[in-house]
Amino acid sequence: LLTKAPRGTRDILFDEATKWVYLESEFRKICGDFGYDEIRTPIFEHTELFQRGVGETTDIVEKEMYTFYDKGNRSITLKPEGTASVVRAYLEHNMYALPQPVKLYYIIPGFRYERPQAGRLREFHQFGVEAFGTADADMDAEIISLSMMFLERLGLKNLELRINSIGCPNCRKTYRQVLTTFLKDRQVNLCNTCKIRLDKNPLRVLDCKDKNCKNTVKDAPMLLDHLCEECLIHFEKLKNRLDQLNLDYKVDPTIVRGLDYYTRTVFEVLSGELGAQNTLCGGGRYDGLVEECGGNPTPGIGFAMGIERLLLTMTGQGITFPRKPSLSVFIVTVGDEASSEGFKLLTELRKSGISADKDYLSRSLKSQMKHAGKFNANYTVIIGEEEIKTGVFTVKNMFSGEQLKLSKNQLIKTLKQGQGEEA
Ligand code: HAM
Repeated sequence: LLTKAPRGTRDILFDEATKWVYLESEFRKICGDFGYDEIRTPIFEHTELFQRGVGETTDIVEKEMYTFYDKGNRSITLKPEGTASVVRAYLEHNMYALPQPVKLYYIIPGFRYERPQAGRLREFHQFGVEAFGTADADMDAEIISLSMMFLERLGLKNLELRINSIGCPNCRKTYRQVLTTFLKDRQVNLCNTCKIRLDKNPLRVLDCKDKNCKNTVKDAPMLLDHLCEECLIHFEKLKNRLDQLNLDYKVDPTIVRGLDYYTRTVFEVLSGELGAQNTLCGGGRYDGLVEECGGNPTPGIGFAMGIERLLLTMTGQGITFPRKPSLSVFIVTVGDEASSEGFKLLTELRKSGISADKDYLSRSLKSQMKHAGKFNANYTVIIGEEEIKTGVFTVKNMFSGEQLKLSKNQLIKTLKQGQGEEA
């Protein structure tokens, strides 16, 4: 146990960590380009927030939350998703008093007690955005285009964008009756969970993974065919906008999504590289959620994208990542005096903004040179008795093999020039 991370969690190391840093910076960049500000919310919240926000009858709340009592006997839950926390923060900090829309993005870990498999973890990570204060379908188009443009900038291809409208509480009331009648007639074919869902939340039956349930709902009436006038107009406007933006999409009336807060637009981005867990990105509108959490009626929309799934997709498509910048200089020293001189030089280089490192294990000259190679350093500086006496260092260009004799000032100048050329 002491040497193994808990099931469904993983460490992110070395080259992979470099990839994460790159993805995070690209996500921050595009969110900035679209006028979104970063929000950082706590890793845990009061359990009630998710019960209320995500919904009592969802898989997440029913069986997947990491919930515990803290020492003050409060029920606390590790965030299973980001939207509810952002809504809570929107209310707590009176963001409704700011000019609307308020547009926020986040990079968070999420926790769900699910059966781990490829692309499904118990601790996973998401890039997410939320926009509050407008019900205009233009915002739906902005949110969808942000996610697609981000994926495009990363070089991804062959992704499938699927959209649907699940209407507002009004059209859903009518539809619920139509669906319940349809399902009740076929109740014997449903799994036990869905038999219970039938009364509590029949829409969830549409999303069941059970084979028989899937078969049963194949011919079920679709919410998309029962939208009220306003919801229909909203959906038509969104489709027009997506056409204008030249975004390929498929209307998929079977998308319902696993969280209760959605209204009207829902969408998913699927990737063939992901196998069973093929949803790379999921989102939608939640015009009732702010009110549900105690605020005034405020429309909202957003999405979240799994970072692990994004990486799996990129790797599957053979996309290369920018390399970590290599170390500018590795200092090789021979003898105690040189070692002390080397440390002084190391500090000066670092103070000048030049990336530098040295040997810390008193290795032989040969193995220090080998070590410098492993670091992929651009230059090595060799310091021995001679160099200390003359104050002139032997500098080896590790790519060309060329050797130079340089004073400290010349060295700093050369290395700075080198960095300028690389940049
Ligand atoms: P979600 O569909 O539950 O939506 O999750 C969004 C994405 O997070 C998924 O498509 C997937 O890429 C990733 N994800 C979810 N669970 C796991 C897991 N166990 N392991 C790995 N990746 C996972 C939400 O979370 C909503 N808050 C999205 C949203 C924002 N809707 C409106 N605003």
